[in-house]
Amino acid sequence: MVGSARRGRLASAVTVADLRAAARRRLPRMVFDFVDGGAEDELTLTENEAAFDRVSFRPRVLVDVSERPQHVTVLGRRLELPVILGPTGLMRMVDHEGERASAAAAHAFGTVSVTSSGSSVSIEDVAASVASPQWFQLYPWGDRGTVENIIGRARDSGFEAMVVTVDVPVVGAREKDLRNGLTVPPQVNPRTGWDLLRHPGWLAGLLTHPRPTFANFTGLMTEAKGTTGLAVYTNGLLNPAHTWRDLEWMVERWGGPVVLKGVMTGEDAKRAVDVGCRAVAVSNHGGRQGDSVPAALDVLPEVVDAVPADVDVLLDGGVRRGGDVVKALALGARACLLGRPWVYGLAAGGTAGVERMLAILRDEIDRTLALIGRPGVATLDCSAVGPWPRAVAGGLADGVPEPVRKS
Ligand SMILES: Cc1cc2nc3c(=O)[nH]c(=O)nc-3n(C[C@H](O)[C@H](O)[C@H](O)COP(=O)(O)O)c2cc1C
Repeated sequence: MVGSARRGRLASAVTVADLRAAARRRLPRMVFDFVDGGAEDELTLTENEAAFDRVSFRPRVLVDVSERPQHVTVLGRRLELPVILGPTGLMRMVDHEGERASAAAAHAFGTVSVTSSGSSVSIEDVAASVASPQWFQLYPWGDRGTVENIIGRARDSGFEAMVVTVDVPVVGAREKDLRNGLTVPPQVNPRTGWDLLRHPGWLAGLLTHPRPTFANFTGLMTEAKGTTGLAVYTNGLLNPAHTWRDLEWMVERWGGPVVLKGVMTGEDAKRAVDVGCRAVAVSNHGGRQGDSVPAALDVLPEVVDAVPADVDVLLDGGVRRGGDVVKALALGARACLLGRPWVYGLAAGGTAGVERMLAILRDEIDRTLALIGRPGVATLDCSAVGPWPRAVAGGLADGVPEPVRKS
């Protein structure tokens, strides 16, 4: 049930930036920073968004743009819009609906959400809460026994595809979390108390529901029984020894389509395909892992070039506008994953807030297509963006690089 204050907040949100502002007001600083912040100096976080600003459109005129379909096919499944709600763990820290909200909103909009293995609602409960199959995200936690167990649980729960995230051998240095004293679950103490008490709406949600923690692993680690710093807690679950051989084993154990998430080079994209992945997600984890890693958009063409045309390339990091989605698709992505945008929506208004975010992006994509003379996302290719600086265009006569993906 959405209260009138939340309804008002959502109705007045016109952009993802407005939802971010609403999230900032609703959440204690400690929780807002956990969502919004990045690693170290946040160079990669900033670059992810800046890279989209550097790309402009080449608008064509007098094209019949009366129809502008947005559907795409990813891993053989039709999605009604070219965005997927990406995996973000511990979402009941933001709102008690947690990961159920992204599954519900994705279902309502004819797309899919990816449930994190670090979810705060168990993967079984997320799967049972929604009529359409969702995707499951695996961190290569612990040992093979642990991984095999959660893969089996995800398969038995009906998840349709597995996204394996490989850019977290250890947790990045999210220094705001350290300074704020972020713990799992959040704790009211002299250091955090004032911040939490100043956000009574959020605090009431926290105190009237089970405390948020990694729901798929309770009991597995001793830390899960107490309250501990997020990075220490998560590092205790991870295993930095995994290699391509382990990935190959995971692909085989799952037996269905696998997306490798966290790919930032052509070499790794090729290798992912060699071990049986059907798709790759170009991602630097939203600038939350290594800092000074390039913007995801900047390496997209390299990855698209490296893999066969039937391998779906997804992209995330810095997508804040429908126009950003159009740019990514023009540069060869099949669809974009969204991280923070849906979490801002969740903070602002639960499931209704996530739906509001999707409605905003859908409208922006639609309007952008009309204004650049492209009758649908299927008509996008590299010639929709530019002009390119001479160095990028490589001296091509018309200043437009060859489309990176021809089919
Ligand atoms: C609060 C938060 C939690 C996240 N948790 C996960 C996770 O559990 N698994 C994962 O693969 N990626 C996780 N990510 C990364 C996102 O899936 C995604 O790669 C990133 O947020 C994309 O950048 P954007 O936030 O700019 O859209 C998380 C991101 C955020 C903001």
